[in-house]
Amino acid sequence: MPASVRLATTHDAAALHRIAALTFPLACTPHTPASEKESYIGEQLTESAFGRHLDDPKRTLLVAVDDASPELIGYSMLTSGEPADVEVAAALRHHPTIELSRMYVHPDHHGDGTAGRLMAATLAEARESGAAGVWLGVSEENVRANAFYAKHGFEQVGRKQFRIGDRVEDDFVRERPL
Ligand SMILES: CC(C)(COP(=O)(O)OP(=O)(O)OC[C@H]1O[C@@H](n2cnc3c(N)ncnc32)[C@H](O)[C@@H]1OP(=O)(O)O)[C@@H](O)C(=O)NCCC(=O)NCCS
Repeated sequence: MPASVRLATTHDAAALHRIAALTFPLACTPHTPASEKESYIGEQLTESAFGRHLDDPKRTLLVAVDDASPELIGYSMLTSGEPADVEVAAALRHHPTIELSRMYVHPDHHGDGTAGRLMAATLAEARESGAAGVWLGVSEENVRANAFYAKHGFEQVGRKQFRIGDRVEDDFVRERPL
């Protein structure tokens, strides 16, 4: 049964926390200490953090579901507004813009088309918001995600830093028109 994608609701906050906690470490570099990943999950990816995101009119969350699983198998989050990061602002070409701030799929579903369906639905929501372009930050070391984004039309337009605890990691900034 292929995954289907729908807008998240406030009832999804706990399940969003579970899929986010499971998938966030997959996007980290091999050098990111386990303690930093745990702190990030414990601070940024809690059920209450997702509850706040779901109530935030600037954010849109989508979830991928599969009838064979009671759990979510992926999620994405869009955040509207111009970026505060000066490096990102200088790199972007399409305005108004919207950030694809999260894109995560359960590892059992990598390569099976779930991420493609989630991306298509997410881009449709981004277009619906009135944005002319969508951007994201992705670790320079995340080869699979970079290949996935390139396949979906996201060009590398700059670089930025990602702070996790006391560490600073290097991200590519990618953007595509809508
Ligand atoms: C990023 C993510 C959503 C993409 O979903 P996916 O199902 O893995 O994506 P796809 O399989 O459609 O595309 C990945 C591409 O990378 C390729 N790839 C995989 N490993 C690779 C590697 N080591 N080097 C080069 N290419 C690689 C795949 O072959 C595929 O390309 P293809 O379709 O042309 O064969 C998913 O991998 C994920 O959730 N990863 C963990 C979380 C994450 O990193 N999120 C992004 C945070 S910015």
